[in-house]
Formats: sequence, C-alpha cells, structure tokens
Amino acid sequence: MFVLVGGTGDLALRMLWPSLAMLDQDGFLADDVRLVSVAREAVGSDEFVERVKAAVTKRAGSDLEDGTIDKFAARISHLSLDVGDVEWGPKLKAELGETDNLDIVFFLSVSPSLFKPICEHLLKAGLNAKPNRVIIEKPLGRDLASSKVINDSVAVAFDEARVFRIDHYLGKETVQNLIALRFANTVFEPLWNAQSIDHVQITVAETVGVGERLGYYDEYGALRDMLQNHLLQLLCLLAMEPPSGINADALRDEKVKVLKSLKPINEHNVLTHTARGQYGAGFAEGKPVAGYEAEKGSPSGTETYVALKAEIANWRWAGTPFYLRTGKHLPSRATEIVVQFKAVPHSIFGGQVLANRLVIRLQPEEDISLTVMNKAPGLSAAGGMDLQPLALSLSLTNAFDSNGTKAPRRRIAYERLILDALNGNNAAFVRRDEVEAAWAWVDGIEEGWAKVYPRPQPYPAGSYGPVSAYTLLDRDGRSWND
Ligand code: NDP
Ligand code: BG6
Repeated sequence: MFVLVGGTGDLALRMLWPSLAMLDQDGFLADDVRLVSVAREAVGSDEFVERVKAAVTKRAGSDLEDGTIDKFAARISHLSLDVGDVEWGPKLKAELGETDNLDIVFFLSVSPSLFKPICEHLLKAGLNAKPNRVIIEKPLGRDLASSKVINDSVAVAFDEARVFRIDHYLGKETVQNLIALRFANTVFEPLWNAQSIDHVQITVAETVGVGERLGYYDEYGALRDMLQNHLLQLLCLLAMEPPSGINADALRDEKVKVLKSLKPINEHNVLTHTARGQYGAGFAEGKPVAGYEAEKGSPSGTETYVALKAEIANWRWAGTPFYLRTGKHLPSRATEIVVQFKAVPHSIFGGQVLANRLVIRLQPEEDISLTVMNKAPGLSAAGGMDLQPLALSLSLTNAFDSNGTKAPRRRIAYERLILDALNGNNAAFVRRDEVEAAWAWVDGIEEGWAKVYPRPQPYPAGSYGPVSAYTLLDRDGRSWND
C-alpha cells in the first residue's frame, strides 16, 4: 500500500505518479498494491484518476505502453482530508480498510511544517506500526536547528530505520554509477588520493532560473537548496572510503565520515573559500530574462550561485581540495565531475606535459573521458617528440547500443527511490546523522556570510557566474573546466 499525502500537488503530478506508473508498467508493483492520494481538495476519485492519467501521459510520452494506464488507474483512489482535522488518522484508516497485515509506505509530499501533525495522526491511529515507513522530501530544514525539529517530529512515529529521506540525486542512475566506477574497477582506487590527484571539481549548472518557486527559493538560496544536499552527496560518493558493502549503513557510515572531516568554513575564511552570486538580467536558452530582484520585485540578498573550496581533513585527501559550484541561469545544463590528476614529476620531453584529467559527465548525457598524453604522429628532424592530449572516451548510451543492447529508458530518479522504499531498502536515502552533519558544516558558511559577505555578487543571466568564482580558483593557481 502506498499513501501519497499531497497527491494533488506539483511534485506528485510531475514526478511521483509518473514514477509509480512506470514502475507498474515494468512489473515492479505487486497486483495488490493500492495507491491512495490524500489532500484537502474535494475531488472525486474518478475525476482525480483522470488528472493523474493526464499527468502520467504527459510525462511518459512514448514510453507509455498500451494497457499500462488503465491497469495503473485501477489502483488509485483519492481521499479528501485536511491535516487540521483531528479525525485525520481514523478517517484515513477507515479508507485503507483492514490495515493490520498491510505494509504501508507513506510519502509526505507536503510542506515540512505538516510532518509533525501528520506523524502524530499516524501514531494516534496506530498507522505507524512496523513495518510501515515514511518518505520525506527536502527541504529538510533551513539549518541544523530546524532540521533537528523536522527529524524529531518524524521520530515521534517512526524509528530511524523506517525514515526514508529523499535526495533525488541519489536516485539518478548516473550518480549510482559513481559507486560502481569507484569500487567495481581496480584502475582508479590506487590513484584515488591526494598523492595522485591535484584537485576535484563538482559542477551542477542549470539554465533555468527560480521561476515559480521564488517564494521558497528566496528563503533558501543556492547553498541550502543545492549544495547542502545534492553537491555534498556527490562529494561524499567521490571521497568516501570503500564501504564494507552496499547496504544502507555501510554506505552511509562512510559518507558521514567525509562530512565530519570537512574543514570548517566560517567568518575567518569564508571570503577566500566561497563565492556568492545572484543573476541579473541577461539571456537564458537564447531568450532575454529578467534579473532575480526584478522577478522578485524587491531587493534580495539571496544567492542563485555558489562556489566553494571544500577541504577534507583526512589521510586520503589532505592537501587536495574539492571545488564545488552550482548556479541558476548559467549557459548550459551540466552536472560534471572533474578529477584533475597531478602532473608528471619530471618531463623528459622538454615541452609541457598536460596532467591527466578524468571527466565524468552525469547530465544531460552520461559519459566518461580520460585525457592522456600521446605522441603526435609525424617525424621530427630535431629528434624530439611532439605530444598531444587525447581523450579515452566512453559514452554510456552508445556503449549499450553497440553491445546490441537497447539503451535503457532514462528513468525518473524517483522511480528507483520509490521502488527501494517499497522494498524497505534505504541505502539511497539520507540518514539523520548525515543530513545533520551537512547542515552543521553549511551553517558555518551561512553565519560567515551573514557577518562578512552579506551581498552576493551580480552576474548576467547566461554567463558562467560571478567573477569571484574564478578568483576562488585563480588564488590557488587553478581554473574551472568550462
Ligand atoms: P504543492 O503546494 O504543489 O502541493 C502540496 C500538497 O499538499 C497538495 O496536494 C496540497 O493539496 C496538500 N496539502 C497542503 N496543505 C494540506 C493540508 N492542510 N492537509 C492535507 N493536504 C494538504 O507542493 P509541491 O508538490 O511542490 O511540494 C511538496 C513537497 O515537496 C514540499 O515539501 C516541497 O518543498 C517538496 N519539493 C517539491 C519539489 C517540486 O519540484 N515541486 C522539488 C523538491 C521538493 P490541497 O491544497 O488540496 O490540500
Ligand atoms: C532541486 C532544487 O532539489 O533540484 C532545484 O530544489 C533544482 O532548485 C533541482 O532545480 C535540480 O534537479 P535536476 O534533477 O534537474 O538536476
């Protein structure tokens, strides 16, 4: 049984119902799985089902096979219920029928301010009993203190093992592949350390602006909206020690160690270790767009771009910085990791020998390339040797095609996450100590900004971000891989 609280909302219609439909199409939902939507809106189940069908059809397009939608629709019902109703729990229980032997997953796709009353209702109605579990979505707080309040409110009804905190990046196929790349190959691991790697760059660039979500975004900004979660998760997967297995606690134990090893950034070093930007008027995807403050209609100190230098104080990474950056209204959409290896200790070629560089592109297409130095073909009267860098390149989409295997459909990240939650596997979800360690580190940056760096630097929409992001790397004699 899957109960989608907030089943009429934006996230539910754009992502969650289509993900459930695709899981159903691929045979991952047992025949007896019912899907129950709960929200205040007084819409009859039939009318609601039509709305879901339209949303699924729009999202899935040609991936939708004949017969899927009708089979899927038959599972769905909608219950109109306000969380403010003291009878919320009993009324939901009555709708679900005999619940004693049910295995129920509650997805709370509502504002986090409703988590507490919902969990209290579930507790009172006994709907929190094992093995029932709960999925919650970001924002899981705005800082460490508010994140603890959210976690405590959920903990009244569900023990930690039954709380599934979503970071949708962990559901992306390409992000999962980072674990395979690192730990299913022997070639990388001996070099995966400060002895061989000069630095790492993690970029999540978006062409979109904040759009409809300005109200939320203005309270959060790029550091809290993207870096605290998605970028730090990527950093953890790249930097963690080999876990003892891919079970939830083994993976998450290693990720927490990375987060706890991050050197603090605070008022003393925030000016040299971070860059904040806010987009002004410019162009996005070829069209003129307004600046952030013009969209908002009033001045704002919220950053739409952040870059920073993260240093991990442990044996593996001491001396090798991880540069992270993310921003809205940048020239192209790209999620990319660059592992910059150190240069050869001594060149026997006279000229310059470029250091090897591993580039892992996660979005929009997945490909991996390793730049290696080669001899340029040709003769030289002087007897020397000209060198040129060439890329060993692996496009994962093409790799599947050339094997004769059809490239798999690009799944919505929520498909994997919902399936894992249905199966009770929380390896791709964020544990409480992880989310709190990430907030503790980010809080230092926010506090530092409030004291010494209150205003973000403007950058034109469609540019690569504020000048300060470039100074950040210049200062270390490095440059971004643009
Ligand atoms: P919406 O405002 O679109 O949807 C909220 C849902 O909650 C609606 O179904 C609404 O239905 C229901 N709801 C609100 N108040 C009550 C109430 N008192 N009792 C019962 N149901 C209620 O929000 P989103 O779908 O955009 O977001 C949901 C959550 O997911 C939020 O926490 C958001 O931050 C997070 N999120 C959203 C993303 C997105 O892309 N939209 C991305 C990442 C996270 P009704 O009004 O009929 O009650
Ligand atoms: C969300 C952020 O978590 O991730 C958004 O709130 C951002 O601001 C989105 O646009 C990016 O996700 P993706 O999957 O498009 O890279």
